[in-house]
Amino acid sequence: MGYLAAYDKLLKHGQTHLLRYYDELHEAEQEQLLKQIDGTDFSVLSSIGNEVSKKRGVISPLKAMESREVYAQLEEFAAIGIDAIRKGRVALVMLAGGMGTRLGSAHPKGMYDIGINRSVYIFARLVENILEVVELTGVFPPLYIMTSEKNHTATTTFWEEQDYFGYDKEQVTFFTQDMAPASDYEGKVYLESKGVISTSPNGNAGWYSSMIKWGLTAAAKAKGIEWFNIFAVDNVLQRIGDPAFIGATIYANTDAGAKVVKKNARDEKVGIICLEDGRPSIVEYYDMTDELMDAVDDKGKPAYNYGVILNYLFRMESLDAIMARKLPLHVVEKKIDYLDANGVTVKPDAPNGYKFERLVLDMIHEMDSCLPFEVYREWEFAPIKNLTGVDSVESARELCLACGIDL
Ligand code: UTP
Repeated sequence: MGYLAAYDKLLKHGQTHLLRYYDELHEAEQEQLLKQIDGTDFSVLSSIGNEVSKKRGVISPLKAMESREVYAQLEEFAAIGIDAIRKGRVALVMLAGGMGTRLGSAHPKGMYDIGINRSVYIFARLVENILEVVELTGVFPPLYIMTSEKNHTATTTFWEEQDYFGYDKEQVTFFTQDMAPASDYEGKVYLESKGVISTSPNGNAGWYSSMIKWGLTAAAKAKGIEWFNIFAVDNVLQRIGDPAFIGATIYANTDAGAKVVKKNARDEKVGIICLEDGRPSIVEYYDMTDELMDAVDDKGKPAYNYGVILNYLFRMESLDAIMARKLPLHVVEKKIDYLDANGVTVKPDAPNGYKFERLVLDMIHEMDSCLPFEVYREWEFAPIKNLTGVDSVESARELCLACGIDL
């Protein structure tokens, strides 16, 4: 894209300030900036003030398979799951493209060391859990790892250095997700430096479209993969490739499965699973009303009591069926690096603008059916969002220790 075409594109979106320093740049930097403008989707900015989450359908309860029901059929479910894994029908997808801004580390979140007496990197902890399934089934399920252009090299280098944490290297595939521009509160996209637009990963729903783009879904299909177990990088207790969860979802014959935990407080910061206009859906904690928090079912129990933990199983066929549909865009307040009036890059301490993300939870709403599968939170839920306090390195360490995990 040439300068004039870039200017034209920016003019349409009110972003011509991004060329403010163009004349000061070297030729290579100028080319790089024009290329970035060409590849950036500025239409996301029109969703500011027009957030999807404000327009909800009719919410009603979705019954979860409670842990006592799981245990009643545990052997049967586990056998179905083990068989699917052994037959190569299940792949694992780690969502590791996030920026982990709340943790405040310059490295990818998975490189964070939660060890006390030894090094236990988050990546290593997750692989440790998957290796239990490897031991049980005798196979290494294919493991796809989503990064973003901001953390790809650091992530892949680290996995190499650490010898894939004991996983079979042949079964690991990295791919990167797309980026979206990041703006101030008025919708003006920030510059990160004089020749680089501020961007951030386009949200964790980017995984499937990026896998398609990288040719990975076609290859997966050819190998006989039918299910993807998607999981967050930051829950250090979760069971991944869990045969019982996989087996129960296959048994229930749903398009998807969602691991859920009983909420520990009416206002706990987890998204709750429910039906919305009759389809499976997740209401994020910031959209929970008092009415939903206090609603009870016919037995007098909280009607919306199961929170998702970002560990889902998706049937590939059902994902292909929804790919043509556009997922809603979420406008999220975050800290964004920007260039100040003196041309110096600033790393803010507090949120200073918007990032634009599409989220996995909205993929669930596109599915015709989803099985909420209860797991014990003490055994499977130790998210690391912050350094200290709730959902932190501190709390996750305590939870791991309580489960007898050596840190
Ligand atoms: P979070 O929503 O906690 O975002 O991600 P984050 O970027 O890691 O952290 P903050 O909000 O900046 O502190 C939940 C999961 O989704 C992944 C993350 O890596 C994490 O596993 N994710 C998030 C992506 O893979 N890509 C994204 O664009 C966003």
